[in-house]
Amino acid sequence: MNVVIINSSPREQGNCSFFSKQLQEKYKDDDVTVFNLYRMDYKGCMACYACKNGDALCFVKDEMQEIYPKLVKADLIIMISPNYYKFVNGTAKEFLDRLFCMTDSVNRSKFKENAKFFFILCQGAGNRSHGEPVVQWLKSVIEHTNLKFYGYVVPGCLKETTDMAKLKYDDLKMSLNMFV
Ligand SMILES: Cc1cc2nc3c(=O)[nH]c(=O)nc-3n(C[C@H](O)[C@H](O)[C@H](O)COP(=O)(O)O)c2cc1C
Repeated sequence: MNVVIINSSPREQGNCSFFSKQLQEKYKDDDVTVFNLYRMDYKGCMACYACKNGDALCFVKDEMQEIYPKLVKADLIIMISPNYYKFVNGTAKEFLDRLFCMTDSVNRSKFKENAKFFFILCQGAGNRSHGEPVVQWLKSVIEHTNLKFYGYVVPGCLKETTDMAKLKYDDLKMSLNMFV
């Protein structure tokens, strides 16, 4: 199985990075690649629409070009973002805008058939419902590209500790296993 892990958090020892490292370990016997978006050099979509011609992907030559070949082959994409102001962080949003090239002019997907997208949102707030609108929004965006979507909110993730992420990891893994 080809697995791509996309982590948009800037904090290398934070909650998102905890999940990223654990999941990389979980899939170590598969073909797994991790991208730490905050350390990469790319911008949002420039809306040139060149990608809408046939099977072409994005024409912008930046470090997103390292990610596209992995995305087109992926069976499972795991995206992890912190909740910033009741949304994904800006780093994640710029990445998501660049997925515009993953559908053609008649909305045919360029992802692999039956590929899946598992989204993890780490947030400070203690109630999952705080992050639910973000999950619903992303579900509608991702399903537009024909990927199967599952969203998981991790509440109570504080900047001082990854204790809550550790506590929730088994439950998250169970959701992921059932989804995949
Ligand atoms: C700029 C900024 C905005 C934030 N906004 C929210 C928010 O709206 N809701 C929330 O629950 N947590 C918010 N947080 C807290 C983070 O979502 C939380 O600490 C998360 O675990 C960070 O992930 P990390 O540990 O991987 O960095 C915010 C943090 C920052 C830095």
